[in-house]
Amino acid sequence: MTLIDGKKVADTIKEEIAAEVDKMVANGQKRPHLAAILVGHDGGSETYVANKVRSCEQCGFTSTLIRFEDDVTEETLLEAISRLNNDKDVDGFIVQLPLPKHISEQKIIEAIDYRKDVDGFHPVNVGRMSIGLPCFVSATPAGILELLSRYDIETKGKRCVVLGRSNIVGKPVATLMMQKHNPGDATVTVCHSATKDIKEICREADIIIAALGHPGFVTADMVKPGAVIIDVGTTRVPDASRKSGFRLCGDVDFENVAPLCSFITPVPGGVGPMTICSLMKNTLLAGQHAIY
Ligand code: GUN
Repeated sequence: MTLIDGKKVADTIKEEIAAEVDKMVANGQKRPHLAAILVGHDGGSETYVANKVRSCEQCGFTSTLIRFEDDVTEETLLEAISRLNNDKDVDGFIVQLPLPKHISEQKIIEAIDYRKDVDGFHPVNVGRMSIGLPCFVSATPAGILELLSRYDIETKGKRCVVLGRSNIVGKPVATLMMQKHNPGDATVTVCHSATKDIKEICREADIIIAALGHPGFVTADMVKPGAVIIDVGTTRVPDASRKSGFRLCGDVDFENVAPLCSFITPVPGGVGPMTICSLMKNTLLAGQHAIY
């Protein structure tokens, strides 16, 4: 069994990006600039955004954090987006999700200029991704494919089961895994809350990508010996022994599943670090005006 070290791969990629930025600056170009909008004080969102800002520093990017309180109006948020769309110095920006209930996430996402949508959530980017055109691919799916590629994991002709159908992970990763491309070219089955016989379907899988947000869902009896397991789960489970008061739990019963696998990602330290790193790659693309 090989443990996939997402942290190590992400650090390598961030060094590659920093070297690319050094070259851009030496050529008289400006540093890529990522802006992030954070609404409210959700613990998870605060941590993610702080990690994104720190990663920008590691990559040599400029970053700007714009904060609003929970009671911000949709109109104010749309105005901030419009300013960022028109700000020539900002190459790409994100609005950290989830947003408070009184704000339409879809309206916010669609207000972002797709050429600055480094999250890859805008319908133009989603549509382009689904037909294999150059675009910003959303960060977690892109990070998963990067891991498969860097670990030389064969995907062509393999049976891939995706657990979960979210717009952020399940749907886009299923789309990418079936694309005529490497990694990709797999036969993909997407399972969700209405799927019958989920255990039997998983047992047929050469690759399982678990993105349900259900701690320990994938058990040893669902895994074919030699399978590749990618765990996208990051549920915060209360843990009084930790300073933070919680620990991150994946969707896979790691202890019992890991001995069966050829490759497996741990939680934390697997897919998580790759997600931020993919956002950095998209920001570099935005800084190079590669998506238009
Ligand atoms: N919330 C959870 N994941 C993400 C992400 O990738 N981007 C944004 N903007 N919000 C998120």
